Amino acid sequence: MVSVCFVCLGNICRSPTAEGVFRSLVREAGLEGAIRIDSAGTGGYHAGEPPDERARKAAARRGIVVDGRARKFRASDFSEFDYVLAMDASNLADLKALYSAGARARLSLLRAFDATAPEDAAVPDPYYGGDDGFDDVIDQCLRACRGLLEHIRQEHGL
Ligand code: 4NP
Repeated sequence: MVSVCFVCLGNICRSPTAEGVFRSLVREAGLEGAIRIDSAGTGGYHAGEPPDERARKAAARRGIVVDGRARKFRASDFSEFDYVLAMDASNLADLKALYSAGARARLSLLRAFDATAPEDAAVPDPYYGGDDGFDDVIDQCLRACRGLLEHIRQEHGL
């Protein structure tokens, strides 16, 4: 089983959206038995909460389900997952501070898997903005998650 954990700050907007987008692509590819998918936040402020309603609605408009409950990322997740994917540079820096050498996970920005985006591109935080920010998150996640799935299929022979 290949495992992927998407990480943002609150685990109520971007990372549950990335999780829902990737889950739908993985299901379309018939690989749901081969890839385990989760998400978490570097902060625990929203732990136990469902995803932000704006994120759920933006996803529902594209036929994508965003659900689950927020949880805080743990250092031990680096030994549970093969890929830990951060939404922005701040999430990545917070994760690097928890990362220890020899951990199982490959740690990078999610959009590093989008060949059409600059290498350091972020999925910007939509929390304090309008609804279009949530639509942009879906588009960015779709492009990056397609690249991620392609990478995983090649790397793991799926
Ligand atoms: P997320 O968005 O990191 O994409 O889940 C945020 C959610 C909540 C807050 C910030 C960002 N907050 O400050 O409460």
